[in-house]
Amino acid sequence: MCGIVGVTGKDNAVQILVDGLQKLEYRGYDSAGIYVNDQKGDDFLVKTTGRIAELRKKITPDVHGSTGIGHTRWATHGGVTVDNAHPHFSNDDRFYLVHNGVIENFQELKDTYLKDVPFKSQTDTEVVVQLVDKFAVEDHLDAKSALVKTLSLLKGSSYAFLMMDREQPDTMFVAKQKSPLLIGVGDGFNVVCSDAFAMLRETHEFLELMDGEVVTITPNSVDIQDADGNAVSRDPFHVDMDPNEADKGTYPFYMLKEVDEQPNVMRKLAQTYLDAAGKPEIDDKLIKAMQAADRLYIVGAGTSYHAGLIGKRLFEKLTNMPTEVHVSSEFAYEQPLLSAKPFFIFLTQSGETADSREVLSNVNEAGYPSLTITNVENSTLSREANYTLLLHAGPEIAVASTKAYTAQIALEAILAKALGEDMGLAIAKDFDVRTQLGLVANGMQAIVDEKDKLEELSNDFLMDTNRAFYIGRGIDQAVSLEAALKLKEISYVQAEGFASGELKHGTIALIEKGTPVIGIITQAKTASLTRSNLQETIARGAKTMTIVRESLANDDDDLVLPDVDELLMPLLSVVPAQLLAYYTSLNKGLDVDKPRNLAKSVTVE
Ligand code: F6R
Repeated sequence: MCGIVGVTGKDNAVQILVDGLQKLEYRGYDSAGIYVNDQKGDDFLVKTTGRIAELRKKITPDVHGSTGIGHTRWATHGGVTVDNAHPHFSNDDRFYLVHNGVIENFQELKDTYLKDVPFKSQTDTEVVVQLVDKFAVEDHLDAKSALVKTLSLLKGSSYAFLMMDREQPDTMFVAKQKSPLLIGVGDGFNVVCSDAFAMLRETHEFLELMDGEVVTITPNSVDIQDADGNAVSRDPFHVDMDPNEADKGTYPFYMLKEVDEQPNVMRKLAQTYLDAAGKPEIDDKLIKAMQAADRLYIVGAGTSYHAGLIGKRLFEKLTNMPTEVHVSSEFAYEQPLLSAKPFFIFLTQSGETADSREVLSNVNEAGYPSLTITNVENSTLSREANYTLLLHAGPEIAVASTKAYTAQIALEAILAKALGEDMGLAIAKDFDVRTQLGLVANGMQAIVDEKDKLEELSNDFLMDTNRAFYIGRGIDQAVSLEAALKLKEISYVQAEGFASGELKHGTIALIEKGTPVIGIITQAKTASLTRSNLQETIARGAKTMTIVRESLANDDDDLVLPDVDELLMPLLSVVPAQLLAYYTSLNKGLDVDKPRNLAKSVTVE
């Protein structure tokens, strides 16, 4: 949510900033801007509404510099206007600042300290840059001290700030609280970014920052200061990722590429976490910590929450451990009664979701053990939990999550087997997850090879509607929720995932002539019931489609899924739903990867 980049010590700062912002566009894409300074007295501010492509158009050849900062915005306070785009600057044009996060007490600060100061924007951020300027001028503070004084006034806020002072034009100032920010270390230059992936063309060495730290960066130095003002020394970590891995290649959209990558993600997870005999290779301390618990609590948002719903089935079946699944934004402020020995599992693709992080902070405060399952190494939720398991899915760029969902489920399956086996449970021992994931990978491949058919079904069922239902029972109902979310977020069809047996208790009133209802049927014990529920909708005019597991299918079914273990059928049944959403969005001419109003990494609560 909002992407930040910065560089100092490179003559092509403008290009580095704009290319970096392009990589971060998934974090927000309603407006963007850069500020650069050439150390010789020239500086430039360019801002625009719209995407990075618009920003590129606005950058004329004379815009140059060797130190600069940039931002791509997902609006929180203030509409989408050029004035509200970052960087924001003080009224004397001295300080320039970009921000990711929310300043909760900005109005109070404005009223208390800046009553007579004219504001150019409606954002919470401008208050910060005007305050820095006020303290620098009135209290004769240098830039860093003025920033530190300003930070001390920010209550309950989340921020990653990157600031420049025209009087020290080769220097960047950084402050971090809750929102993610990394420093990339180079030879004679340094960079700053919300996500390492934005700067991999410049460096693979990154420094993580802790909450409360303030950093001063020049081309040849990075000085970190902790919240108490003490100097901090920290070694960089290496990010071993090929920058090309995050390119679209010949794909029209990242989402399609990421859907297609799923078979390989399944194979990679099996290789990483299972030995040749199929035995899980997972940190024994983690397994023992989970075993010591009396209940598992899975916490996540959006698609990750949906992956948790499948995880519940896996853990309860394979380990007998009672498992609850919670939406992080709800859990954070209305914590349910906990068992005596809870163990928390955080599911998060990005590892940065503010809602989930809030829960983890509470969990840490209470001293409960936790595991983060994430796609991003060194992400905040990974660092702050006791244990981490990585999804190894490769960068997920499309806003609509696909391969992270299936990777989370596959990893939950491996973990549940590891735990159940360690507990001596026969059902876990007999669950041949290695073979099953191989079958899943082949099954996924067969489904993604049927793109023409899925596009046709999307045209027939979903192009001319603004309402649709996915229905199923049990684990199929959990997949229905994810299937509906995919359709909603990228094609703007109001889709509901529903327990098929529950329709007749009210919601069936919404079914009218032509309403699309898609049944997911992969579980033997409920197959005929879901079929009956589909019939009930047909009787009321619905147009139905079925996604059915092969051993339960008949000649009339629309999409037949290869058979794998019932517990892992979600890994297959979700794939057609991903592709149906994709083609509906594509053929409506929408931007599949960047749906309106959304951002990939949601770092505000
Ligand atoms: C939907 C989607 C979101 C995320 C949610 C949590 O396609 O991507 O619902 O799943 O914002 O994000 P993470 O998993 O990064 O915590």
